[in-house]
Amino acid sequence: MFHYSQTLLVLLVLSCVVNVFGQDMSVPYSSNFINYLGRFLPSPDSTYFSFSWTHSTISINATNITTISATLSGGKSSSRFLVVLDGEPQEPFVVGPEVDTYPLTPKGLSRDAFHTISLIKISEDQTQHKSKGASRFYSFVLSPGSKILPWLDERPSLHFIGDSDTAGWCSDGSPSTSDDFTTTQNSHTTWSSQLSESLNASLSQVTAVSGLGVLDSPIQPYLDNVLTYDSSTPYDWTTSPPSSVIILLGPNDDSSKSSKFKNAYRNLLDILVDRYSYMPNPPNIISVCGGSINGLDPCQLIESVTSDFNLKRSDRFKAYYTSIKTSTWKEINKLKNGYVGCDEHYNSKGHEALMSDILDDVVRFVYS
Ligand SMILES: *[C@@H]1O[C@H](CO)[C@@H](O)[C@H](O)[C@H]1NC(C)=O
Ligand SMILES: *[C@@H]1O[C@H](CO)[C@@H](O)[C@H](O)[C@H]1NC(C)=O
Ligand SMILES: *[C@@H]1O[C@H](CO)[C@@H](O)[C@H](O)[C@H]1NC(C)=O
Repeated sequence: MFHYSQTLLVLLVLSCVVNVFGQDMSVPYSSNFINYLGRFLPSPDSTYFSFSWTHSTISINATNITTISATLSGGKSSSRFLVVLDGEPQEPFVVGPEVDTYPLTPKGLSRDAFHTISLIKISEDQTQHKSKGASRFYSFVLSPGSKILPWLDERPSLHFIGDSDTAGWCSDGSPSTSDDFTTTQNSHTTWSSQLSESLNASLSQVTAVSGLGVLDSPIQPYLDNVLTYDSSTPYDWTTSPPSSVIILLGPNDDSSKSSKFKNAYRNLLDILVDRYSYMPNPPNIISVCGGSINGLDPCQLIESVTSDFNLKRSDRFKAYYTSIKTSTWKEINKLKNGYVGCDEHYNSKGHEALMSDILDDVVRFVYS
């Protein structure tokens, strides 16, 4: 704690000095001009936001800007981040446990353009212990004369729930690389991220954890947490009402225990109904089948849970189901075909193939 507050003091002094001479412009985490997608927890001393779910996104809209940096920490086990400028991903980088200021300036900034700059945490919380693995965001520092504009986003917002395929595990790797997350995890290249782009939708929340499902290692208890592994940080589900919830779960469960699996999957859907019941127009609940390795195993069961869910309902919730084509799935799960990253998980090309197969259905469901 001493270390952090000391660093902060230095930072505060620095930003004041800088402002006095009109050189840099510090935009604190609490600024209304910063747009947050995902789950963020203010620190008790109001100096930073903690966040731990993959794909937590921090964005600004600015013009007359030539440089940008961010004051961050990556949690006990470090985290991998990515800057996206006007939709163009830059080179990912690793943020260590100490609070530090990272230059982010993306290629292609020009003074006269309006730019959207997003800083995305593309890896999971690898510490997996309470808030220890959580990243922290303190502030952006922009070049002198930068003008920040309000963030306006009218696009439909999507809440994704998934496992390693949605969290981007190994997506930047190859069958011959290790699975070190600091070089291979990338939630921006996943089927879910590519799907949001194709739908012109905003990826407003990603609650995905590698290795989890609905039955054997259930994700359900984590869904109520702001910080993935800290149950003392209850999430307020009213902060980000989605227009659709899109789920890809099941490959990590033993779906041969079919009735247990169906009950567990139904339990997840019922939790979503409960948490989003405050919405006058509840979100569409869309299940996708087609994960890597053994992704087709749970498909029939999930389809059957979906139709049962819709029987005799009067609460306006509706479930939808779509899946990858069996022929596509077989093609992209063969190691030699170029669709696989490390640990037999999809790379971005594999994710794209899954996304293309389900896109038409999901467009109909989301815009229904
Ligand atoms: C843009 O920033 C420069 C400083 O970098 C400043 O001199 C100029 O007045 C700014 N332009 C506008 C239109 O704000
Ligand atoms: C950024 O600001 C400009 C100018 O106000 C606006 O046209 C644009 O829609 C904004 N972009 C976002 C993502 O809010
Ligand atoms: C998304 O936007 C692009 C470009 O405006 C458009 O061509 C495409 O049809 C849109 N897709 C959907 C699903 O609305």
